[in-house]
Amino acid sequence: MDKKIMLAYFSAAGHTRRIAQALADKLAIDCIEIKPVIPYSPSDLDWYDPNSRTFREMQNEKIKPAMQPIRADLSSFDILFLGFPVWWYTYPRIVGVFLDLLNLKGKIIVPFATSDGSDITSCARNLEKNYHEAIIHPGRILSGNLNRELLNEWLSDLGLSF
Ligand SMILES: Cc1cc2nc3c(=O)[nH]c(=O)nc-3n(C[C@H](O)[C@H](O)[C@H](O)COP(=O)(O)O)c2cc1C
Repeated sequence: MDKKIMLAYFSAAGHTRRIAQALADKLAIDCIEIKPVIPYSPSDLDWYDPNSRTFREMQNEKIKPAMQPIRADLSSFDILFLGFPVWWYTYPRIVGVFLDLLNLKGKIIVPFATSDGSDITSCARNLEKNYHEAIIHPGRILSGNLNRELLNEWLSDLGLSF
């Protein structure tokens, strides 16, 4: 395995964090957490409330939530595993704030997400639309327990075996 892998994730309520940590353990790499300067409160995360912070953020592509500085080398990787919760069928705005820091030319992004039922297709499509210099893998929803066999199968489909 000569490709350098980086793993970064955002999680507001902890589900994606658990999956990201299990994946990082499996890949034997560090996890980079994408953290907002102002954490999301339970009422911020009320996606049924049109006045909630997340509702407003996801309605407006121009909103860029402030992100805490990342203390990791973001310059040398070939493959980025990128984890997030599906928010309104796409990736949360703060994930875009993180991606905007990177030089993505020719890099492979492998998205993984948790959701309450939505699949990842439209998230990957939006990544493709906004980051066309990168190669976006279709990605995978990894909600629930991270089944070892499923993970091995997925990584070997990606040409990565551990
Ligand atoms: C603002 C917001 C929007 C959401 N939109 C969707 C959605 O479109 N489809 C879906 O299946 N789940 C949706 N969810 C549910 C989350 O994707 C799901 O609970 C996820 O596992 C949360 O991950 P986290 O604990 O890492 O934050 C939404 C949740 C929030 C807070």
